[in-house]
Amino acid sequence: MAEAGKNPDGLAAHDWAGEAGTRWLAQLDRFESMIEPIGKALLDQAAYTAGETVVDIGCGGGWTTRQIAAMVGDTGFALGLDISADLVATASDRASRAGLANIRFDQGDAATVMPAEAPFDRLFSRFGLMFFPQPYPAFENLRRMLREGGRLDIALWAPIANNPWQRSIMGIIKEHIDLPKPEPRAPGPFAMGEQDYVIDLLQSAGFSDITFDAWTGDQRVGGPGSDPESAASFVLDGMHIGDLVRPGGAEVRASIYRSLVDLFERNRDADGVRMGAKAWLVSAKA
Ligand SMILES: C[S@@+](CC[C@H](N)C(=O)[O-])C[C@H]1O[C@@H](n2cnc3c(N)ncnc32)[C@H](O)[C@@H]1O
Repeated sequence: MAEAGKNPDGLAAHDWAGEAGTRWLAQLDRFESMIEPIGKALLDQAAYTAGETVVDIGCGGGWTTRQIAAMVGDTGFALGLDISADLVATASDRASRAGLANIRFDQGDAATVMPAEAPFDRLFSRFGLMFFPQPYPAFENLRRMLREGGRLDIALWAPIANNPWQRSIMGIIKEHIDLPKPEPRAPGPFAMGEQDYVIDLLQSAGFSDITFDAWTGDQRVGGPGSDPESAASFVLDGMHIGDLVRPGGAEVRASIYRSLVDLFERNRDADGVRMGAKAWLVSAKA
């Protein structure tokens, strides 16, 4: 069995300002289309109205920020904040091509920066809050971005045990690579699956009226329309998971690739690969 790199959570650091951001950008349309149903559900929950000011944390390529700008209209304002300069440049470009005037994108670390327009009426984030090395002070900073009585709406992945798409992929990788035991709550996509932990983070930062709604549905791995081969390549080359596989070398990669193709073959329909997923849609009052 090949050995993974020595990282405390079994995953390489999430270098969003560098390589992770570049990788997300390279597959932006696939990533955004995979999580679009969750974005739509969170936007429905937030139900923004004309004139509101909204900050979108870890906005990535800015799809959700553009939807928010359209919802709040000319009298409102949407700010996308992201640590990756490359993603911010692309998000700005896409918004100007869409002809949106009430939108801006800033590069910065949401754990520490304070945007010029703060305090906002609303704070939004689809999967942008699970990567802070020190989540407690970071959530306090998010609270300071909101006015008193403002509201937060965020999407977080539920635990990996409730996400068969991720659990099955990891199961295959573990058959080939000796992974260190993951550290619960270590920064990463599944850091905030536990409700009690998220409630504690929010309450410690001064939020109240916390609600959790479960979103369950399909992850179209590789994006809608992907065949098993392109979905397997997407996982190994586009997703962070690929970092676990690379140290194993070409042979290990080839057998993991074949197992992933088999897995996706068993989980496909006319619209591509389809596997179960679960996320939390959380709201809270500042
Ligand atoms: C999983 S992606 C989600 C992107 C986007 N919200 C979406 O749903 O398409 C996570 C995003 O969070 C950003 N991010 C991670 N840590 C951050 C931080 N400390 N401050 C600001 N953005 C951060 C990353 O650069 C990346 O764009």
